[in-house]
Formats: sequence, C-alpha cells, structure tokens
Amino acid sequence: MELTASLFLFLFLLPLLFLVLVFLNVSPSPSSDKLPKIYPLKGSSFALLANLKRRIQWTSDLIQLSPTATYVLHRPLGLRHVFTGNPATVQHILKTNFSSYQKGDVFRSTFRDILGDGIFNVDGDSWKFQRQQVSSHEFNTKSLRKFVETVVDMVLNDRLIPLLSEAARKGTILDMQDILQRFTFDNICKIAFGYDPACLSPSLPEEKFAEAFEEAANLSSQRFYFPFPIIWRIKRKFDIGSEKRLRIIVSEIREFARKIVKDKKREQLNGNSSLESVDLLSRFLSSGHSDEEFVIDIVISFILAGRDTTSAALTWYFWLLSRTPRVENEVIREIKAKSEAPVYEDVKDMVYTHASLCESMRFYPPVPVDTKEAICDDILPDGTAIKKRHKSRISPIRDGQVGEDMGTRLGGV
Ligand code: HEM
Repeated sequence: MELTASLFLFLFLLPLLFLVLVFLNVSPSPSSDKLPKIYPLKGSSFALLANLKRRIQWTSDLIQLSPTATYVLHRPLGLRHVFTGNPATVQHILKTNFSSYQKGDVFRSTFRDILGDGIFNVDGDSWKFQRQQVSSHEFNTKSLRKFVETVVDMVLNDRLIPLLSEAARKGTILDMQDILQRFTFDNICKIAFGYDPACLSPSLPEEKFAEAFEEAANLSSQRFYFPFPIIWRIKRKFDIGSEKRLRIIVSEIREFARKIVKDKKREQLNGNSSLESVDLLSRFLSSGHSDEEFVIDIVISFILAGRDTTSAALTWYFWLLSRTPRVENEVIREIKAKSEAPVYEDVKDMVYTHASLCESMRFYPPVPVDTKEAICDDILPDGTAIKKRHKSRISPIRDGQVGEDMGTRLGGV
C-alpha cells in the first residue's frame, strides 16, 4: 500500500508539479545580476542543478556576493538552505546555540545505512553519550597518544617514505591522492580497530575493505543530489540500481567490521594484551559496550572521520607546497631544525608548518560543508531569519589566488 502511494507520487504528481512550475515561471529580480533568480515553487533549483558539479565553489561564490556572508538558497516548495561563511553565524550555529542546530531527520535517514547510530549520525542523548566517551579519560590517556604516535611512525617510516624514495629514485610518477588515501586508511584502521589493511604495501594492493568504504560513502552522498528524497527511497525499496549496490557493500563492510569486533572480544576474553589492545575498539569494549551493532557503528564513523579528511588535507597541502617553493623551503627548514624524525611534542612547536597547514585547509577545506537543521525558529547574528527545519550549511569563503596567495600570506609568519 505504501509502495503504491509512493509510485503514484513519483509517476503522477511529480510531472504535474513540473508543469505547474513551468507555467509559473515568474521571476522576482534578485539584488545582484550574479545571484540566481528565485521562481515561485521551484525556487532556484535549476541554478543549483546547473552548478551541481561545482556546487561548493558556487555556494562559496554566492556567499561572497552577500554583504553578510550568508546566502539563503530557495529550494522547491518553500524549503530554504542557508549557506554561511560569516564567523559570528558559524559560532552561533556550532557553539553558542548548538542545541538548536542538529543533524536532523533528512541527514540521518540519508546516511543511516552506512553510519547507523554512530556519532556522526545521531543527535540528543545518543550524541552526548558518544561525545562524552570520546572526551573521557579512556580516550585521552598518554597510552593512546603513544599508540597513535607508534602507528603513524610505523606507516610513515616503513611504508610511505620508502615508497616515495623508491619512486624518486626510479623517476616513477605516483598518484599522490591515492597514496595518501592508502596512508591514512592504514593509520586509521590500526588506530580504530588494531587491524592493519596494509594498503600502502609496495605493490599497492587492491584492498576490498578500503574500496567498499569509498564506494559506500560516495553512494550515500549521492542521495543528496536527488531533487526529491522519495526517488532514492523508491530505488531502495525496489532494491535497484545504486541502492542495490549500496546495500551489498554496506553489508560487506559491516560483515568485515563484525568479524574484527568478534576477534577483538575473543582476544580480550583470553586476556591477550599487547600494544594493539589500546586501539579505540578495545577501549570501547573494555569500557562496557557489549552491543555489537552499536560498536560497529562507532568504529565505522571513526574510519570515515579519520580517512578522507586527513588524506584530503594532506593532498591539497602537498599540491600547494609544490606550487610555492618558498613555503616548501621554510617548512623543510623548520622540520630539519627540530630533529631528523620529529615526534608529537616537537610537532606542536612547528609554528610555520602549522600555519601553512591551516592556510591550506582554509583554501581547500577537507570537510567543505557542514550541514545542520534548525529545530526551532531563530535569528542568526547576521540578521537572517531561520525557520524550524531550515537547513543551514556552513560553507567556505574562498578568496584570493590559491597557490600564489599561500606564499604571500605566510610571508609574515
Ligand atoms: C584534517 C582532518 C580533519 C578535519 C578537517 C575534520 C573535520 C571535522 C568536522 C568539520 C567535524 C564536524 C564538526 C561539527 O559539525 O560540529 C568533525 C567531527 C568529528 N571528527 Fe573530525 N576532522 C578531521 C580529522 C578527524 C580524525 C583523524 C578523527 C578521528 C579519528 C576525527 C573524528 C571526528 C569525530 C568523532 C567527530 C564528531 C564529533 C561530534 O559530532 O561531536 N576527525 N570533524
């Protein structure tokens, strides 16, 4: 019955709606020629569709055209997305008025298959609980820091550096984005699970788990591009196309994670304690979490959190360094001044390297958009009125000539 209603909506109401939109193609004039026109009912959705492939840059451009650095995008049927790069507004949403801006139902249902009830996909008590766990003593001990340092040191010295040295010696061209994704995947799997996928072995092997992760994250994000969520929901219900593929790989990922959780539990029961036992999964298990599915959700969230963010940050960073030799030389000088192989404590004092990394992430944010949903009406510090269920998206403001600017800006550091 529910399925018939969905089909009716899809096949009959959507074309009807489209015709209505075409007939009502009356455009109120926006305040600037460069801003998208806003039409009754369909809002600016065609402008969004036209810029889908460059949507981050497009929204960044819109924000820059706005005197308040906040732009309200009109979606069909009166929906609003508020894009902002205004610092006071960002602080209001993420900090001061944090409890009024949540992930919301649309986000949660879109990512539920892959993230389950992991920290990235929950609000309220469940979020608070997981957040408290992550901030707890268990996760902030010297032993965890030492473990992270040991893992990164191993993957760096035994894998990444030999691979890069060999390529430099032979003059081989490497895809740095792929190499850095392998680097961060090996690191995060060891830190989260105590499991070593060895993606960065010299033969650069295909790693099913890593590829499944990549595909599942992409397919889940693509659900956002459907103009109406009902379309992916129908595909999911019929188990067809991309939704069928997503179901298969998510179950592969969970199966894989389940095996690791089981092995870890067995290891703990047998009292096998080693350096490997201080990984995040062991910490969750030893702090009393016995619900296997929940532990899997948490660990999957950590892998997603740590993998693409760090590899995207490093890829852009090395690309920018390669275009700005002056900054590259300064970074090398600072590293060499510390020691041959700087450790965690040394890294904290590397002011120039830190500043150049921050500048690189400002130009190319690894998480370019952070979406929240208002749970009540509100007025943002820049004066924008927010209605309950409006989406607010925190977007970067990209100004200046990327690359050349990094050198100029860091000149005075
Ligand atoms: C360059 C690297 C990284 C960037 C740019 C980054 C960025 C972000 C952003 C934008 C958020 C959302 C914050 C919000 O909406 O309030 C977030 C949340 C989070 N990140 Fe990262 N992240 C990075 C690396 C990592 C790593 C390595 C881990 C752990 C292994 C991690 C774990 C988390 C967790 C657990 C959350 C959820 C926090 C919460 O909801 O309270 N992140 N990160």
